[in-house]
Amino acid sequence: MSASTVDRRPGGPFLVGRGLLKNYGPYQALAGVDLAIHTGEVMAIVGPSGSGKTTLLHVLAGILRPDGGEVLLDGHRIDQLGEAKRSALRRHEFGFVFQQGMLVGELTAEENTALPLLLAGANRKQALAGARDWLARLGLGGLEKRLPGELSGGQAQRVAIARALAHSPKVIFADEPTGALDTRTGEETTQALFAAAAATQAAVVIVTHDRELAAKAGRIVEIRDGLITGGVMVG
Ligand SMILES: Nc1ncnc2c1ncn2[C@@H]1O[C@H](COP(=O)(O)OP(=O)(O)OP(=O)(O)O)[C@@H](O)[C@H]1O
Ligand SMILES: [Mg+2]
Repeated sequence: MSASTVDRRPGGPFLVGRGLLKNYGPYQALAGVDLAIHTGEVMAIVGPSGSGKTTLLHVLAGILRPDGGEVLLDGHRIDQLGEAKRSALRRHEFGFVFQQGMLVGELTAEENTALPLLLAGANRKQALAGARDWLARLGLGGLEKRLPGELSGGQAQRVAIARALAHSPKVIFADEPTGALDTRTGEETTQALFAAAAATQAAVVIVTHDRELAAKAGRIVEIRDGLITGGVMVG
């Protein structure tokens, strides 16, 4: 793609997947997926278990390499980069929230949140100050020194969100981020994620089984058997 064909309008396609294929042995998990995510957009990916949602997220985020098709970030192909470059890209440009926060058990809330900043090269003092800022924005002021084991599920998941946002990523990938929470805590957690993302203009790609949660996204994309079968603009 030449530079002149790259859509650089604010809100233009920022992360694009084209004709994505992914096989696990003889099994085709992605059968040709086309998808474009715009700056600041919140996109929900829904579909039955085994339909390819996690695989799609991992291919878009450069965790998995597709067997066919291409992934473009801001007009540049990222799927063919080597592991070191893709890993640097994940550290700098992307934030991740998983179903079970995956916080480091031996680190405090503020240390967990500071990790991406430290990995991106910030000094410890700056990183911890930035982390405390994000924890406060997510309503976790006062809990900075707690270990993950001393937090409720919803609080721990908000720390995971603070950690995903701390280094100002361009895209946040969330795979069933409320899957382990009760409905109300899940809603609060999602609202915190969407609000924080809106404040930073980060795009959010969120995989969920929860239709109500999906309805709060700007766009819902449905996947079945590794193919996009529907898309709805919400609101
Ligand atoms: N490492 C792997 N090796 C072999 N098959 C895999 C592997 N990972 C996923 N699959 C298969 O690929 C298909 C898509 O898996 P994927 O994890 O993307 O589904 P999903 O939509 O995220 O499902 P869930 O909602 O249960 O998380 C499934 O049939 C799964 O069994
Ligand atoms: Mg999954």
